[in-house]
Amino acid sequence: MSDPVRYEIKDGVAVLTIDNPPVNALSPAVWDAIDKGVQRAVADPAADAIVLIGSGGTFIAGADIKVFDVLKTPQDSMSRSAGTHALLRRMEDSTKPLVAAIHGNALGGGMEVAMSCHYRVATKDAKVGQPEVLLGIIPGAGGTQRLPRLAGAELALTMCTDGKPVAAPKAKAAGMIDEIVDGDLLSGAIAFGKKKAAAHETRKVREIAISADAVAKGLEACAKIRASLDKTARGLKAPFAVVDAVEAGLKDGFDKGSIRERELFSQCVVSTESKALRHLFFAEREVAKVPDVPKDTPTKAIKRAAVVGAGTMGGGIAMNYANAGIPVLLKEVDKAALDRGIATIRKNYEVTMSKGKMTAEQVEKTMALITPTTTYDGFDRVDIVTEAVFENMDLKKATFAELGTMTRPDCILASNSSTLDIDQFAQASGRPAQVCGHHYFSPANVMKLLEIVRGKETSPEVIATSLRLAKTLGKVGVVVGNCFGFVANRMLAYYMREAYLLLEEGASVQQIDNVLTDFGLPVGPYGMQDIAGIDVGARIRQYLKSIGKSRAEGPQSEIPDRLFDMGRYGQKTGAGWYTYDAPGSRNRTPDPLIEQLAEEAAKKRGIVRKPIANEEIVARITTALANEGARVLDEGFATRAGDIDVVYVYGFGFPRRTGGPMFYADTIGLPAVLARVNEYRARFGDYWQPAPLLERLVAEGRGFYSTRS
Ligand code: CAA
Repeated sequence: MSDPVRYEIKDGVAVLTIDNPPVNALSPAVWDAIDKGVQRAVADPAADAIVLIGSGGTFIAGADIKVFDVLKTPQDSMSRSAGTHALLRRMEDSTKPLVAAIHGNALGGGMEVAMSCHYRVATKDAKVGQPEVLLGIIPGAGGTQRLPRLAGAELALTMCTDGKPVAAPKAKAAGMIDEIVDGDLLSGAIAFGKKKAAAHETRKVREIAISADAVAKGLEACAKIRASLDKTARGLKAPFAVVDAVEAGLKDGFDKGSIRERELFSQCVVSTESKALRHLFFAEREVAKVPDVPKDTPTKAIKRAAVVGAGTMGGGIAMNYANAGIPVLLKEVDKAALDRGIATIRKNYEVTMSKGKMTAEQVEKTMALITPTTTYDGFDRVDIVTEAVFENMDLKKATFAELGTMTRPDCILASNSSTLDIDQFAQASGRPAQVCGHHYFSPANVMKLLEIVRGKETSPEVIATSLRLAKTLGKVGVVVGNCFGFVANRMLAYYMREAYLLLEEGASVQQIDNVLTDFGLPVGPYGMQDIAGIDVGARIRQYLKSIGKSRAEGPQSEIPDRLFDMGRYGQKTGAGWYTYDAPGSRNRTPDPLIEQLAEEAAKKRGIVRKPIANEEIVARITTALANEGARVLDEGFATRAGDIDVVYVYGFGFPRRTGGPMFYADTIGLPAVLARVNEYRARFGDYWQPAPLLERLVAEGRGFYSTRS
């Protein structure tokens, strides 16, 4: 193996170049080589100063996240991090000026290494940050102690609790960077180092004094940020641990603060929260790897797009394209529907503008990229069409047949269907290789998930293009198989089945919704249905009934269809599972009618309603998700368990701190999940059946993650 840090003398300066592609992550070998390199330079008479720089596209993106998996107990971590802290002190104690030359990113441990240098110079487009909190940990290599000394406690607290990087110009203004280099970074860093050597200057960040006034202000900032985290970081440990560590340093000084940081880091790194978030970090990157679509598969440039259907979903999809600067035709059948769709889009942008996130000029510029139309004029020039008409098989097939003749043969034809068979649309279009599903989640311009549904004949180029397009549109694309409901909605049917049955058994709509929002979902099942529209589910059920199928095994609650028959479609009609102040309002109140409908439904099924414990609600719903997820995986409709987790985190806001429904099941332990399925089967009936994969994994003593490719 080549040395991860190259050593050379340039113009009287020792240049240490970190070379650990792709992002120069700090593996144990890199830490060690930096340490040795600095000590060698200190002893080298040919060097007056030392520059630490990264090769490739970045400085250092942080500690190697995979290495955290070897830390099994806080004690393991305590002894390892003692070594890291000592190493960074050795660097800082260098008798020759030590300069970090930053391009790309200096994140996490990368920023901590940079702060243990005496000075930092950077390119204008470089970024620095402490994103550890996004991995459920805190900066563990002195970041919570050195950053407040460089940038002030308030900014340090913000950076360490929101995890967002800061651009070099702002970092310079705040004191984190000493100089922005306009030309060649290495030459600039060498010149800077020589200047400091000539002036016999070095500066140890750990020795920067914090005035009594700054300490008082910093402690105030700690209290303020804790109060805001109480609202925004409910259920999380790491953001609070960050504040504790910064506070310890302010109160007790660098050395004691550093010990506290190590203790807190060591508790966090072995927490379920951190394991779950680290799992998601890699799962999110793995979804882009589709086994039979190699990295070098050619992709098609998407320069012009079209969307058919200007309803809620179609409008949101058109916004995605416009937001990415791609001109888009938006087609509706008549002018009235088109005008409504365009008015909704404008309203959405105006809300964004009122929040200060867009200027009036940006709104007009973006709106100008959306061309409303009631004809297929111009469809022969687009690279992709997304169909977003009503969820009806015949209508969609007719639309695809038209699109097959109205577009160029190489144009991608995507359907936003949330459930229906993509292969039937593909056949109707006459060119099945160009057809796939692009299933967006409501609201389509906000939710980050894009399910890319692969039909029998969808070409690898269409899949590769869709994955790239997802990135362009700011989405996370996950390739899924073509089964009813694909991954997200197929599993959701089981989640909803349990929600309905729990209601019939005695829980209330509010209890179920509250329990799930306490669990961490942004909205419970009933609130979600009122937003999505009770009519949407009812029409899908009608279609399924017409082909002799149902969405999920087991009893079908009559309540949602009764609401549909009453015209209670949810927020849009002012009533659904809740009643609302007015149609379109979000201000809801519980409705006694639902209890009455639940009583009637329970009576028909011979059930006596009784109180249900909150724990039972979480257990039933998460078990139903994991069991169906196991089937989806086993049947090959998802590539990896991690893909399912990513679908749920980005499609429905399943709490990240759980790692997603499959990781959550692993955390509970698959034997316990299987035991629950069997218990429910005994209590409720044979519609609860353990998924074969779940049984196999338990028999083999494995979890979902040993099935990862
Ligand atoms: N450790 C291990 N692997 C990493 C990594 C890290 N810190 N950062 C990125 N990678 C890997 C990715 O998994 C990916 O691998 P594959 O190609 O095999 O999928 C590859 O590097 C490229 O990463 P991205 O696809 O994310 O590339 P990008 O250009 O879109 O983004 C980035 C680059 C902004 C650096 C992004 O990768 C990132 O945010 N990385 C994590 C940064 C981070 O969280 N650092 C803190 C680590 S914890 C720490 O440092 C603790 C401490 O206090 C000591």
